[in-house]
Amino acid sequence: MIKNICCIGAGYVGGPTMSIIALKSPHIKVTVVDLNQERIDAWNGEDLDKLPVYEPGLAEVVDQCRGKNLFFSTEVDKAIDKADAIFISVNTPTKTYGVGKGMAADLKYIELCARQIARVATSDKIVIEKSTLPVRTAEAIANILKNTGNGVDFQILSNPEFLAEGTAVSDLMSPDRVLIGGEQTEKGKKAAEKLVDVYKNWVDEDKILTTNVWSSELSKLTANAFLAQRVSSINAMSELCEVTGADVNEVARAIGTDSRIGSKFLKASVGFGGSCFQKDILNLVYIAKSYGLNEVADYWEQVIVLNDHQKRRFAANIVKTLFNTVSGKDIAILGWAFKKDTNDTRESAAIYVADELLNERASLKVYDPKVNEEKVYTDLNYLETRTNKENVELVDVVEDPYEACKGAHAIAILTEWDEFKSYDWNRIYDNMQKPAFIFDGRALLDLEELSRIGFITYSIGKGN
Ligand code: NAD
Ligand code: UGA
Repeated sequence: MIKNICCIGAGYVGGPTMSIIALKSPHIKVTVVDLNQERIDAWNGEDLDKLPVYEPGLAEVVDQCRGKNLFFSTEVDKAIDKADAIFISVNTPTKTYGVGKGMAADLKYIELCARQIARVATSDKIVIEKSTLPVRTAEAIANILKNTGNGVDFQILSNPEFLAEGTAVSDLMSPDRVLIGGEQTEKGKKAAEKLVDVYKNWVDEDKILTTNVWSSELSKLTANAFLAQRVSSINAMSELCEVTGADVNEVARAIGTDSRIGSKFLKASVGFGGSCFQKDILNLVYIAKSYGLNEVADYWEQVIVLNDHQKRRFAANIVKTLFNTVSGKDIAILGWAFKKDTNDTRESAAIYVADELLNERASLKVYDPKVNEEKVYTDLNYLETRTNKENVELVDVVEDPYEACKGAHAIAILTEWDEFKSYDWNRIYDNMQKPAFIFDGRALLDLEELSRIGFITYSIGKGN
């Protein structure tokens, strides 16, 4: 029986998943470790509003378990040594160098973890891949563990995470399924059973799927590819709606009622963001190419091509509508996170739209309910299009949405935060330059109402 869990990586996955395991399994001691001292300090901080990850309901869970059976620490070796099961939940970004640059997953953090586990472990361990990994990574981890370890037995399981940010707590509390891939040997099956027992503390057994390791690894990439494909499919239709006079929300409702299609993930947007869709599809494309499956690779790559197009055409439309120039004009950006209910901005469409507008010398005022000034500048600086000084000159980050819109020529809605729907749009309009434009990148707002107020409106996927 698993009694002591260590999770390496206290990020958006490690933090929430381990908090729920701790909540639902009071008999298991869970220690989440990370090299990043600042992150660990924030997880341990008194102020629950300042946890490193914002997720509705998470602070309450952390408050309930922290110091009882949930611990956050930088003492990685100690936690590895004490654990029966070690989750690897570190980041696996797209490679930025060498072979596979811009496509393959960078496995250096995974390898470092494997080497560290091998060096430290003095008793048998179950090592669980929680990070999203290319198919057959378990083989590489097994190789490192078995060849550099201290002769102890390691069983490697794949247990990919399917939570979505913004709904992590409810996704973890009632998952559609839990997937566990293990080696098809007696020892492998026993290890998988032990992990099944952990999840059985709160998940129905018929929702816990066991497979071989490779199916599990590939299923995770496949799930993200299918989800992102739906977004690109509806976004492709959004452009067609705009030129034909159709309304993408109506089209989505009409097709979503077909039970074979289903209603979820049909929301047109300024483009999907987040740390995983693009990275995982690129990784899939790279894997397909490396097996010589060029048609398969091209098919999936198109999901990314369409997404990039969606972001670019949204920005280009703003410039075109504002009489072909935004130079020196103030544009309010409402929403910087890649979706609502998260403070995560990785790969957010807002970053790319802002970058395009800044290239046209617009001045931006950014407001997001959960994203701070530092993050906005870090995201823009990371693109290396401009220096930090230039970004600071052209972009203001404000804490009040009315302040962001004051004196602006146009507003761009880039995240679907609920609060945007309840703003006093009359007041906002009164304080803007005229004509006042609004560009809704999330098809979120009531355009009729905004037009009545006097705004010139554009919404993704809505034709005239
Ligand atoms: P993250 O960047 O938020 O967190 C990763 C953490 O690992 C960082 O805090 C980093 O400091 C730490 N780390 C890296 N190397 C380490 C080491 N050797 N020792 C100790 N700590 C180390 O990343 P994330 O969003 O939590 O994603 C983690 C993995 O989970 C990725 O593979 C991702 O694809 C996958 N995933 C993410 C999501 C999501 O919604 N974010 C959902 C499902 C799966
Ligand atoms: C996604 C998957 O949904 C999770 O199952 C998976 O575990 C995770 O990736 C991962 O592997 O990291 P996440 O990226 O957190 O989760 O959030 P999503 O809800 O999938 O949204 C991704 C992006 O697509 C967001 O920018 C969102 O605004 C956009 N989106 C989503 C749309 O534009 N339209 C939709 O209908 C749905």
